[in-house]
Amino acid sequence: MNAPDRTPVAPAKIEFIDLKAQYAALRDEIARRMQAVLDHGQYIMGPEVKELEAALVAHSGAKHCITVASGTEALLISLMALDLKPGDEVVTTPFTFAATAETIVLLGGVPVWVDIEPDTCNIDTSKIEAAITSRTRAILPVSLYGQVADMDEINAIAARHGLPVIEDAAQSYGATYKGRRSGNLSTLACTSFFPSKPLGCYGDGGAIFTNDDALAQAAREIRVHGQSARYTHTRVGVGGRMDTLQCAIVLAKLGRLDWELERRRAIGARYHERLRGLDLRTLTVRPDRDSVWGQYTVRVKNRADVQAALAAAGVPTAVHYPKPLHRQPAYAHFGAGDACPASLAAADEVMSLPMSADLSDADFERVVQALAAAVGPRAT
Ligand SMILES: Cc1ncc(COP(=O)(O)O)c(C=O)c1O
Repeated sequence: MNAPDRTPVAPAKIEFIDLKAQYAALRDEIARRMQAVLDHGQYIMGPEVKELEAALVAHSGAKHCITVASGTEALLISLMALDLKPGDEVVTTPFTFAATAETIVLLGGVPVWVDIEPDTCNIDTSKIEAAITSRTRAILPVSLYGQVADMDEINAIAARHGLPVIEDAAQSYGATYKGRRSGNLSTLACTSFFPSKPLGCYGDGGAIFTNDDALAQAAREIRVHGQSARYTHTRVGVGGRMDTLQCAIVLAKLGRLDWELERRRAIGARYHERLRGLDLRTLTVRPDRDSVWGQYTVRVKNRADVQAALAAAGVPTAVHYPKPLHRQPAYAHFGAGDACPASLAAADEVMSLPMSADLSDADFERVVQALAAAVGPRAT
């Protein structure tokens, strides 16, 4: 008889973001919505585009929603709608995904870095005013990890200097701030429907929100090559439409969105509670707002070791982001603000854990246990 195989069995890997479970729950509605598009055949600017925009106006509270090809395109078109010119400065944070600054630079603009608050990783509003010059044309805060930055304070600073504000809400669709939703808090806001976002499609997509009629009209024209009527190119634009099939998929997901957002908030709160005694730092959620946890991110020392231990236990992690933009080769020549020490420190420590509305209690427990074993209790 053969000896029994005693090779240790690797633990099943937890999904970092469980899109398969979400799809299983929505399969029929997604199929129905996609079939409707295939039947009518209007793949570009079909009826689902307007239907989604109307649904997102109702959900966000903003007056206008303009769907576009991605979150990056939303930022680019918003900056074009504001008529950003070469040499214009935009005050923003270096602790973000590259798209935030990339779109400024693509238009010849100059990102001016303002450091973050260490406990939320959002822009430190107390440092914004010192970064404003006569060349500043906009302020572009990021609602990082799903929590809105301090928009009232940012809007007040912007008003004192006559500047528009663009919220990069790529990670925060559905979050609330003083009872209002992310996307409806500033001159313009941009979200992303990248599949892993709190509201995602099955490819690329995004949306611009605004309460300003003229900016909405400009954004609508810019997304279709600057056309105000067919073959009347009133301004320079881009090919920036979101396709009808992706709009249909987001429409299918809307029926479950508020439940998903509640689950994300609840799982975030449970993570906070269960991780409290461990040798790591959870991020702060300010009392006047919530987070939809686009990423559930903590700060740990010896991150590489902790990640390796979690990986061995079947728990995937990610780093958002390992290097702030002022230290990235493509952006380093724009200076370093005041060197942004809080961004540099965060980049060394941040680690995102599995998070999605469909994270099961059993998997949640495995994440918590594996993390407790990896970091140990906090020294008192
Ligand atoms: C903060 C931030 N801004 C912008 C983007 C760009 O969105 P997209 O990937 O849809 O172009 C992302 C997406 O990763 C993001 O996280």
